[in-house]
Amino acid sequence: MMAKKGRLELKETKLFHTTKEDLESAAQLIREGKTVIFPTETVYGLGANAMDEKAVREIFKAKGRPADNPLIVHIDSLEKIGRYVKELPRNAQLLAEAYWPGPMTLILPKKECISDVVSAGLMTVGIRIPQSAVAREFLKNCDLPVAAPSANLSGSPSPTTFEHCKDDMMGRVDGIICGEDSAVGLESTVIDACGEIPVILRPGGITPEMIKTVCGDVIVDKSVDGVVDTEKPKSPGMKYRHYAPNAEVILVKYGDTEKMRKLAEEVKESIVLLTEESVENFGRESAICIGSQKNPETVAHNLFRVFRECDKKGYKRIILEEIEDKEIGLAVMNRAKRAAKK
Ligand code: TXA
Ligand code: MG
Repeated sequence: MMAKKGRLELKETKLFHTTKEDLESAAQLIREGKTVIFPTETVYGLGANAMDEKAVREIFKAKGRPADNPLIVHIDSLEKIGRYVKELPRNAQLLAEAYWPGPMTLILPKKECISDVVSAGLMTVGIRIPQSAVAREFLKNCDLPVAAPSANLSGSPSPTTFEHCKDDMMGRVDGIICGEDSAVGLESTVIDACGEIPVILRPGGITPEMIKTVCGDVIVDKSVDGVVDTEKPKSPGMKYRHYAPNAEVILVKYGDTEKMRKLAEEVKESIVLLTEESVENFGRESAICIGSQKNPETVAHNLFRVFRECDKKGYKRIILEEIEDKEIGLAVMNRAKRAAKK
Protein backbone atom coordinates (compact mmCIF):
# COMPACT_ATOMS: atom_id res chain seq x y z
CA MET A 1 0.00 0.00 0.00
CA MET A 2 1.61 3.24 -1.16
CA ALA A 3 0.81 6.42 0.74
CA LYS A 4 -0.40 9.20 -1.48
CA LYS A 5 1.89 12.16 -1.17
CA GLY A 6 -0.93 14.59 -1.83
CA ARG A 7 -2.91 13.54 1.24
CA LEU A 8 -0.07 14.27 3.63
CA GLU A 9 0.62 17.62 5.13
CA LEU A 10 4.15 18.43 4.00
CA LYS A 11 6.68 18.74 6.81
CA GLU A 12 9.77 20.89 6.90
CA THR A 13 12.55 18.30 6.85
CA LYS A 14 15.75 19.37 8.64
CA LEU A 15 18.96 17.80 7.41
CA PHE A 16 21.61 16.91 10.00
CA HIS A 17 25.27 15.97 9.80
CA THR A 18 26.93 13.59 12.21
CA THR A 19 28.61 16.25 14.35
CA LYS A 20 28.05 16.13 18.11
CA GLU A 21 25.83 19.22 17.96
CA ASP A 22 23.73 17.93 15.08
CA LEU A 23 23.20 14.53 16.72
CA GLU A 24 22.02 16.34 19.84
CA SER A 25 19.60 18.52 17.84
CA ALA A 26 18.25 15.47 16.03
CA ALA A 27 17.70 13.69 19.37
CA GLN A 28 15.92 16.77 20.68
CA LEU A 29 13.40 16.41 17.84
CA ILE A 30 12.70 12.80 18.93
CA ARG A 31 12.13 13.98 22.51
CA GLU A 32 9.64 16.53 21.15
CA GLY A 33 7.61 13.76 19.53
CA LYS A 34 8.95 14.28 16.01
CA THR A 35 10.23 11.81 13.38
CA VAL A 36 13.93 11.54 12.46
CA ILE A 37 15.68 9.24 9.97
CA PHE A 38 19.03 7.88 11.20
CA PRO A 39 21.73 5.67 9.67
CA THR A 40 22.41 2.16 10.93
CA GLU A 41 24.71 -0.59 9.65
CA THR A 42 21.76 -2.54 8.22
CA VAL A 43 19.59 0.10 6.55
CA TYR A 44 18.44 3.62 7.49
CA GLY A 45 15.64 3.75 10.10
CA LEU A 46 12.70 6.17 10.48
CA GLY A 47 12.56 6.84 14.21
CA ALA A 48 10.13 8.20 16.79
CA ASN A 49 9.66 7.87 20.57
CA ALA A 50 8.28 4.34 21.13
CA MET A 51 6.44 5.49 24.26
CA ASP A 52 4.57 8.26 22.44
CA GLU A 53 1.61 6.90 20.50
CA LYS A 54 1.06 10.07 18.52
CA ALA A 55 4.70 10.19 17.42
CA VAL A 56 4.64 6.52 16.39
CA ARG A 57 1.54 7.07 14.26
CA GLU A 58 3.53 9.63 12.29
CA ILE A 59 5.93 6.83 11.25
CA PHE A 60 3.10 4.76 9.79
CA LYS A 61 1.77 7.85 8.00
CA ALA A 62 5.13 8.83 6.53
CA LYS A 63 5.77 5.34 5.17
CA GLY A 64 2.22 4.45 4.15
CA ARG A 65 2.72 1.35 6.29
CA PRO A 66 -0.16 -0.99 7.23
CA ALA A 67 -0.97 -0.65 10.96
CA ASP A 68 -0.80 -4.42 11.57
CA ASN A 69 2.95 -4.51 10.90
CA PRO A 70 4.87 -3.92 14.17
CA LEU A 71 8.00 -1.78 14.53
CA ILE A 72 11.44 -2.55 15.95
CA VAL A 73 12.53 -0.58 19.03
CA HIS A 74 16.13 0.66 19.11
CA ILE A 75 18.20 1.27 22.23
CA ASP A 76 21.87 2.11 22.77
CA SER A 77 22.85 -0.33 25.50
CA LEU A 78 21.89 -3.69 26.98
CA GLU A 79 21.63 -2.19 30.47
CA LYS A 80 18.45 -0.36 29.42
CA ILE A 81 16.60 -3.39 28.07
CA GLY A 82 14.91 -4.18 31.40
CA ARG A 83 12.94 -0.94 31.12
CA TYR A 84 11.13 -2.22 28.04
CA VAL A 85 10.89 -6.04 28.24
CA LYS A 86 9.40 -8.23 30.98
CA GLU A 87 12.18 -10.80 30.88
CA LEU A 88 15.30 -11.79 29.01
CA PRO A 89 15.05 -15.55 28.46
CA ARG A 90 18.32 -17.53 28.47
CA ASN A 91 18.74 -17.73 24.68
CA ALA A 92 18.06 -14.03 24.37
CA GLN A 93 20.72 -13.30 26.99
CA LEU A 94 23.25 -15.45 25.12
CA LEU A 95 22.45 -13.89 21.75
CA ALA A 96 22.50 -10.37 23.17
CA GLU A 97 25.94 -10.90 24.66
CA ALA A 98 27.29 -12.45 21.47
CA TYR A 99 25.83 -10.23 18.75
CA TRP A 100 24.78 -6.87 20.19
CA PRO A 101 25.51 -4.22 19.16
CA GLY A 102 24.80 -5.58 15.68
CA PRO A 103 22.37 -6.46 12.89
CA MET A 104 20.04 -8.52 15.11
CA THR A 105 16.52 -7.95 16.47
CA LEU A 106 15.18 -10.06 19.34
CA ILE A 107 11.44 -10.54 19.82
CA LEU A 108 10.75 -10.42 23.57
CA PRO A 109 7.76 -10.05 25.95
CA LYS A 110 7.05 -6.32 26.07
CA LYS A 111 6.39 -4.05 29.02
CA GLU A 112 3.39 -1.74 28.95
CA CYS A 113 5.41 1.46 28.46
CA ILE A 114 5.94 0.42 24.83
CA SER A 115 2.96 1.71 22.87
CA ASP A 116 0.55 -0.86 21.40
CA VAL A 117 0.85 1.05 18.16
CA VAL A 118 4.53 -0.03 18.04
CA SER A 119 3.75 -3.72 18.60
CA ALA A 120 0.60 -3.67 16.43
CA GLY A 121 -1.29 -5.13 19.38
CA LEU A 122 1.11 -8.05 19.99
CA MET A 123 2.35 -8.91 23.52
CA THR A 124 5.92 -8.86 22.23
CA VAL A 125 8.34 -6.23 21.00
CA GLY A 126 11.35 -6.44 18.69
CA ILE A 127 14.47 -4.85 20.26
CA ARG A 128 17.72 -3.98 18.53
CA ILE A 129 21.00 -2.36 19.57
CA PRO A 130 22.64 -1.20 16.34
CA GLN A 131 26.38 -1.33 15.80
CA SER A 132 26.70 1.97 13.93
CA ALA A 133 28.49 4.50 16.16
CA VAL A 134 26.35 7.36 14.82
CA ALA A 135 23.16 5.42 15.53
CA ARG A 136 24.23 4.69 19.07
CA GLU A 137 25.30 8.23 19.84
CA PHE A 138 21.97 9.47 18.50
CA LEU A 139 20.03 6.86 20.55
CA LYS A 140 22.03 7.67 23.65
CA ASN A 141 21.19 11.34 23.25
CA CYS A 142 17.50 10.51 22.78
CA ASP A 143 17.56 8.52 26.04
CA LEU A 144 14.26 6.97 24.92
CA PRO A 145 13.37 3.74 23.15
CA VAL A 146 13.22 4.68 19.46
CA ALA A 147 10.75 2.78 17.27
CA ALA A 148 12.05 2.62 13.72
CA PRO A 149 11.15 0.69 10.59
CA SER A 150 13.30 0.96 7.48
CA ALA A 151 13.03 4.52 6.16
CA ASN A 152 11.58 3.67 2.74
CA LEU A 153 8.07 4.16 1.42
CA SER A 154 6.20 0.96 2.23
CA GLY A 155 6.77 -1.61 -0.51
CA SER A 156 9.96 -0.16 -2.01
CA PRO A 157 13.52 -1.37 -1.29
CA SER A 158 14.95 -0.33 2.09
CA PRO A 159 17.27 2.71 1.95
CA THR A 160 20.98 2.06 2.36
CA THR A 161 22.18 5.61 1.62
CA PHE A 162 21.23 9.12 2.72
CA GLU A 163 20.21 9.88 -0.88
CA HIS A 164 17.66 7.04 -0.86
CA CYS A 165 16.09 8.53 2.30
CA LYS A 166 15.88 11.95 0.71
CA ASP A 167 14.31 10.47 -2.43
CA ASP A 168 11.55 8.75 -0.45
CA MET A 169 11.04 10.95 2.59
CA MET A 170 11.71 14.68 2.02
CA GLY A 171 8.66 16.53 3.31
CA ARG A 172 7.35 13.43 5.10
CA VAL A 173 9.60 13.46 8.21
CA ASP A 174 10.97 16.14 10.55
CA GLY A 175 14.65 15.29 10.16
CA ILE A 176 17.20 13.17 8.32
CA ILE A 177 20.72 12.46 9.58
CA CYS A 178 23.20 12.31 6.72
CA GLY A 179 25.42 9.34 7.64
CA GLU A 180 27.47 6.72 5.85
CA ASP A 181 26.15 4.13 3.44
CA SER A 182 24.86 1.11 5.37
CA ALA A 183 27.63 -1.49 5.65
CA VAL A 184 25.45 -4.63 5.70
CA GLY A 185 22.84 -3.33 3.26
CA LEU A 186 19.99 -5.68 4.32
CA GLU A 187 17.70 -5.44 7.35
CA SER A 188 18.55 -7.12 10.65
CA THR A 189 17.96 -10.78 11.45
CA VAL A 190 14.66 -10.99 13.37
CA ILE A 191 14.72 -13.77 15.98
CA ASP A 192 11.87 -14.90 18.19
CA ALA A 193 13.84 -15.48 21.38
CA CYS A 194 10.89 -16.19 23.69
CA GLY A 195 10.97 -20.00 23.49
CA GLU A 196 13.32 -22.96 24.05
CA ILE A 197 14.82 -22.76 20.57
CA PRO A 198 15.41 -19.44 18.77
CA VAL A 199 13.32 -19.02 15.60
CA ILE A 200 14.53 -16.88 12.68
CA LEU A 201 11.56 -14.90 11.37
CA ARG A 202 13.62 -12.81 8.94
CA PRO A 203 17.19 -13.72 7.90
CA GLY A 204 19.92 -11.06 7.97
CA GLY A 205 23.52 -10.36 8.89
CA ILE A 206 23.44 -12.67 11.93
CA THR A 207 23.23 -16.04 10.20
CA PRO A 208 21.64 -19.36 11.31
CA GLU A 209 25.16 -20.75 11.71
CA MET A 210 26.07 -17.91 14.08
CA ILE A 211 22.92 -18.42 16.17
CA LYS A 212 23.51 -22.17 16.37
CA THR A 213 27.03 -21.61 17.64
CA VAL A 214 25.68 -19.65 20.59
CA CYS A 215 22.40 -21.45 21.38
CA GLY A 216 23.12 -24.96 20.13
CA ASP A 217 20.05 -25.01 17.92
CA VAL A 218 18.01 -22.76 15.62
CA ILE A 219 14.78 -22.98 13.62
CA VAL A 220 14.33 -21.10 10.36
CA ASP A 221 10.63 -20.22 10.10
CA LYS A 222 9.04 -21.52 6.91
CA SER A 223 8.03 -18.01 5.89
CA VAL A 224 11.74 -17.31 5.21
CA ASP A 225 11.51 -19.56 2.18
CA GLY A 226 8.46 -17.73 0.90
CA VAL A 227 5.75 -19.92 2.50
CA VAL A 228 3.63 -17.48 4.46
CA ASP A 229 0.52 -18.03 6.51
CA THR A 230 -1.17 -14.79 5.55
CA GLU A 231 -3.84 -15.17 8.27
CA LYS A 232 -1.45 -15.38 11.19
CA PRO A 233 2.18 -14.98 10.17
CA LYS A 234 4.67 -15.02 13.07
CA SER A 235 6.36 -11.95 11.66
CA PRO A 236 3.57 -9.83 10.22
CA GLY A 237 5.93 -8.03 7.84
CA MET A 238 6.63 -11.23 5.94
CA LYS A 239 3.21 -11.32 4.34
CA TYR A 240 3.79 -8.16 2.36
CA ARG A 241 5.54 -7.99 -1.01
CA HIS A 242 8.55 -6.12 0.24
CA TYR A 243 11.86 -5.03 -1.09
CA ALA A 244 10.56 -4.76 -4.63
CA PRO A 245 11.73 -2.42 -7.35
CA ASN A 246 9.12 -1.26 -9.88
CA ALA A 247 10.65 -3.45 -12.55
CA GLU A 248 9.71 -7.10 -12.90
CA VAL A 249 12.36 -9.27 -11.20
CA ILE A 250 13.26 -12.73 -12.56
CA LEU A 251 15.72 -15.05 -10.79
CA VAL A 252 18.14 -17.23 -12.75
CA LYS A 253 20.32 -20.03 -11.39
CA TYR A 254 24.02 -19.32 -10.85
CA GLY A 255 25.98 -19.65 -14.09
CA ASP A 256 23.03 -19.97 -16.50
CA THR A 257 24.19 -17.07 -18.68
CA GLU A 258 22.34 -18.48 -21.68
CA LYS A 259 19.00 -18.12 -19.90
CA MET A 260 19.97 -14.61 -18.76
CA ARG A 261 20.65 -13.60 -22.35
CA LYS A 262 17.38 -15.11 -23.58
CA LEU A 263 15.31 -13.36 -20.92
CA ALA A 264 17.09 -10.08 -21.65
CA GLU A 265 16.31 -10.35 -25.37
CA GLU A 266 12.57 -10.70 -24.70
CA VAL A 267 12.18 -7.22 -23.18
CA LYS A 268 13.96 -4.20 -24.61
CA GLU A 269 14.48 -2.39 -21.30
CA SER A 270 16.12 -5.32 -19.50
CA ILE A 271 19.12 -5.37 -17.24
CA VAL A 272 21.07 -8.37 -15.98
CA LEU A 273 22.48 -8.31 -12.43
CA LEU A 274 25.12 -10.96 -12.14
CA THR A 275 28.01 -12.03 -9.97
CA GLU A 276 31.68 -11.54 -10.74
CA GLU A 277 32.06 -15.23 -11.55
CA SER A 278 29.67 -14.96 -14.54
CA VAL A 279 30.79 -11.62 -15.99
CA GLU A 280 33.20 -13.09 -18.50
CA ASN A 281 30.79 -15.73 -19.72
CA PHE A 282 27.96 -13.25 -20.21
CA GLY A 283 29.92 -10.40 -21.69
CA ARG A 284 29.68 -6.90 -20.31
CA GLU A 285 26.86 -5.33 -22.30
CA SER A 286 23.60 -4.61 -20.40
CA ALA A 287 24.82 -6.21 -17.19
CA ILE A 288 25.76 -4.91 -13.75
CA CYS A 289 28.05 -6.86 -11.44
CA ILE A 290 26.48 -7.03 -7.95
CA GLY A 291 29.22 -8.86 -6.07
CA SER A 292 30.82 -12.23 -5.76
CA GLN A 293 29.52 -15.76 -5.14
CA LYS A 294 32.48 -16.32 -2.87
CA ASN A 295 31.75 -13.21 -0.88
CA PRO A 296 27.94 -12.98 -0.42
CA GLU A 297 28.37 -9.94 1.87
CA THR A 298 29.15 -7.93 -1.26
CA VAL A 299 25.83 -8.91 -2.85
CA ALA A 300 23.97 -8.07 0.38
CA HIS A 301 25.66 -4.67 0.46
CA ASN A 302 24.73 -3.81 -3.15
CA LEU A 303 21.32 -5.41 -3.78
CA PHE A 304 18.89 -2.69 -2.63
CA ARG A 305 21.05 0.14 -3.99
CA VAL A 306 21.21 -1.48 -7.41
CA PHE A 307 17.44 -2.17 -7.38
CA ARG A 308 16.87 1.53 -6.84
CA GLU A 309 19.33 2.49 -9.58
CA CYS A 310 17.56 0.18 -12.02
CA ASP A 311 14.25 1.88 -11.26
CA LYS A 312 15.79 5.32 -11.78
CA LYS A 313 17.07 4.24 -15.18
CA GLY A 314 13.61 3.00 -16.08
CA TYR A 315 14.36 -0.68 -16.64
CA LYS A 316 11.26 -2.83 -17.01
CA ARG A 317 12.87 -6.21 -16.32
CA ILE A 318 15.63 -7.14 -13.89
CA ILE A 319 17.27 -10.53 -14.40
CA LEU A 320 19.03 -11.46 -11.18
CA GLU A 321 21.57 -14.25 -10.81
CA GLU A 322 21.05 -16.35 -7.68
CA ILE A 323 23.66 -16.98 -5.01
CA GLU A 324 23.86 -19.91 -2.62
CA ASP A 325 21.34 -19.52 0.21
CA LYS A 326 23.73 -20.13 3.06
CA GLU A 327 25.18 -17.67 5.57
CA ILE A 328 24.14 -14.13 4.59
CA GLY A 329 23.19 -15.59 1.18
CA LEU A 330 20.03 -16.84 2.92
CA ALA A 331 19.03 -13.22 3.60
CA VAL A 332 19.96 -12.13 0.06
CA MET A 333 17.87 -14.88 -1.52
CA ASN A 334 14.96 -14.20 0.87
CA ARG A 335 14.81 -10.56 -0.33
CA ALA A 336 15.40 -11.60 -3.95
CA LYS A 337 12.56 -14.14 -3.92
CA ARG A 338 10.18 -11.63 -2.37
CA ALA A 339 11.13 -9.03 -4.97
CA ALA A 340 10.46 -11.62 -7.69
CA LYS A 341 7.01 -12.49 -6.33
CA LYS A 342 4.25 -11.22 -8.57
O1 TXA B 1 17.65 -3.60 10.25
C1 TXA B 1 16.50 -3.39 10.62
O2 TXA B 1 15.85 -4.24 11.26
C2 TXA B 1 15.90 -2.03 10.28
C3 TXA B 1 16.68 -0.97 11.03
C4 TXA B 1 16.11 0.41 10.88
O3 TXA B 1 16.77 -1.35 12.38
N1 TXA B 1 14.51 -2.00 10.60
C5 TXA B 1 13.58 -2.70 9.91
O4 TXA B 1 12.30 -2.52 10.36
O5 TXA B 1 13.85 -3.42 8.98
P1 TXA B 1 11.01 -2.94 9.52
O6 TXA B 1 9.88 -2.34 10.24
O7 TXA B 1 11.18 -2.56 8.11
O8 TXA B 1 10.94 -4.49 9.70
C6 TXA B 1 10.62 -5.06 10.96
C7 TXA B 1 10.27 -6.51 10.81
C8 TXA B 1 8.92 -6.71 10.15
O9 TXA B 1 8.96 -7.84 9.30
C9 TXA B 1 8.00 -6.95 11.36
O10 TXA B 1 6.86 -7.68 11.02
C10 TXA B 1 8.93 -7.69 12.30
O11 TXA B 1 10.18 -7.11 12.12
N2 TXA B 1 8.52 -7.51 13.71
C11 TXA B 1 8.58 -6.38 14.45
N3 TXA B 1 8.07 -6.59 15.68
C12 TXA B 1 7.69 -7.87 15.74
C13 TXA B 1 7.08 -8.70 16.74
N4 TXA B 1 6.77 -8.22 17.94
N5 TXA B 1 6.83 -10.00 16.43
C14 TXA B 1 7.16 -10.49 15.21
N6 TXA B 1 7.73 -9.76 14.22
C15 TXA B 1 7.98 -8.48 14.47
MG1 MG C 1 11.03 -2.45 6.08
